[in-house]
Amino acid sequence: MRRAVCPGSFDPITNGHLDIIERASKLYDVVHVAVLINRNKQGMFTVEERIGLIEEVTAGFGNVVVESHHGLLVDYCRERGIPAIIKGLRAVSDFDYELQMAQMNHGLTGVETLFVPTSPTYSFLSSTLVKEVASYGGDVSHLLPETVHGRLVERIAERKAAQ
Ligand code: PNS
Repeated sequence: MRRAVCPGSFDPITNGHLDIIERASKLYDVVHVAVLINRNKQGMFTVEERIGLIEEVTAGFGNVVVESHHGLLVDYCRERGIPAIIKGLRAVSDFDYELQMAQMNHGLTGVETLFVPTSPTYSFLSSTLVKEVASYGGDVSHLLPETVHGRLVERIAERKAAQ
């Protein structure tokens, strides 16, 4: 089985993420989507919620496994025999940090990182921007899977009501 991992925070998954996962799922037998837990970052969605949303929107691909991981990405890969990390590159500005991480990860365990150019439709897209725009009432429905957009609008309304 040829395996690869698409890692990230996925808070929440966007159409940009989904595009990369779908393309990876056509190249590999099994694609792991690893939701990396960062205890220093308060998310909009819990890790369990993020996993549920990713499972829902990737179910149709048929070969995607979604899991959370706390710790180093290279350990996640080593424990599961995954030789390749797939990352989307949106713009040159992503490259510096992504290259550093790829070189560090390769130096740690020999795991390879493969970069996939993001579709130009999503080159400006990030979960952070989507949350910010949505929280001020901007329309981000074209940037998220429908079910994810619905949950984001709900969550923002819940948070506003609790303030
Ligand atoms: O979606 P993000 O937040 O841009 O994803 C970044 C992520 C989670 C892929 C990166 O921070 C990561 O790999 N974290 C796991 C911890 C780790 O392995 N750190 C060393 C990287 S060289």
